Amino acid sequence: MAIDLTGVSETLLIPLYAQWRENRRGRPVLRDAKVDDIVDRLKPPFEKFIPSLTDRPILILRKRIIDQMVAGHLRRHRGRAVVVNMGCGLCTRFDRLDDGSVTWIDVDLAMVAPIWALAFEGHEPRRRFVTGSVAAPDFIDSIEVPAGAVPLFLMEGVSMYLSDEKMQALTARIAARFPGATFIFDAMARWLARGWAFYPSIVVTGSRFTWGLDRPKSCTAWGRGFRVLRDVPLARQLDLLAGPLGWFARFNPLLNAAYRVVMLRLGKPATSAAGRSPPPP
Ligand SMILES: C[S@@+](CC[C@H](N)C(=O)[O-])C[C@H]1O[C@@H](n2cnc3c(N)ncnc32)[C@H](O)[C@@H]1O
Repeated sequence: MAIDLTGVSETLLIPLYAQWRENRRGRPVLRDAKVDDIVDRLKPPFEKFIPSLTDRPILILRKRIIDQMVAGHLRRHRGRAVVVNMGCGLCTRFDRLDDGSVTWIDVDLAMVAPIWALAFEGHEPRRRFVTGSVAAPDFIDSIEVPAGAVPLFLMEGVSMYLSDEKMQALTARIAARFPGATFIFDAMARWLARGWAFYPSIVVTGSRFTWGLDRPKSCTAWGRGFRVLRDVPLARQLDLLAGPLGWFARFNPLLNAAYRVVMLRLGKPATSAAGRSPPPP
């Protein structure tokens, strides 16, 4: 199938390519058989992408850290967890983490829908695909979750294409409709985002980075009662890829601040009709 993607949507091939290469390493940090299946089905034009030195640490470690956070949410809220994966691209996290009860909603721009059909043909009915822009004011209205559900919103590899205003507006909309929801996203430091022209795989898609985050605490000003639940620098797990040398990254403030995964609590959960608050994430 010819892959007809342009601009920011074409960037979904970059994490797919990184995981496909990771699967081929002797001792991968993360293995994902579904990615090989997708590559067999779609035959993506990987030759277009020249991996940079930073691609593997960023793409594989952020995936692993987010997996750990999402798996924790599924464990704590088994039977009630809903995951909304915004800007999902061809993300295979559902295939990696499905616990048999989670409701999973994958969201991306309409351009991506035709390739979902082939990549995830015959998918589990608890998984839904929704098209729309997370930057659109009515985006959140298209997200339906069952009563009593505990929603987790996640956004991987997308924040750097947005802006402060768009991140604030998105979190405010989620918090208004799902007070107390958890929001996980990855973010690069502003200095790293400014160097977008040095990432050949981004440049070939015609996209560019437009947002970075230096102080996760600043996100608490985006909405009432917002709290940082976790802030995990990728550098903390660099030893998985770089061995003992990677341990030094933990003590390097520049590396620690360069790229992180943040988990926010978006305000206080609304009190349910029964007079009980839903459990915390
Ligand atoms: C680098 S890819 C990341 C894909 C996936 N999250 C992953 O990590 O494998 C960026 C994705 O964000 C999507 N995207 C960018 N802006 C978006 C928006 N405003 N609304 C919805 N999706 C968006 C793109 O279409 C693309 O699939």
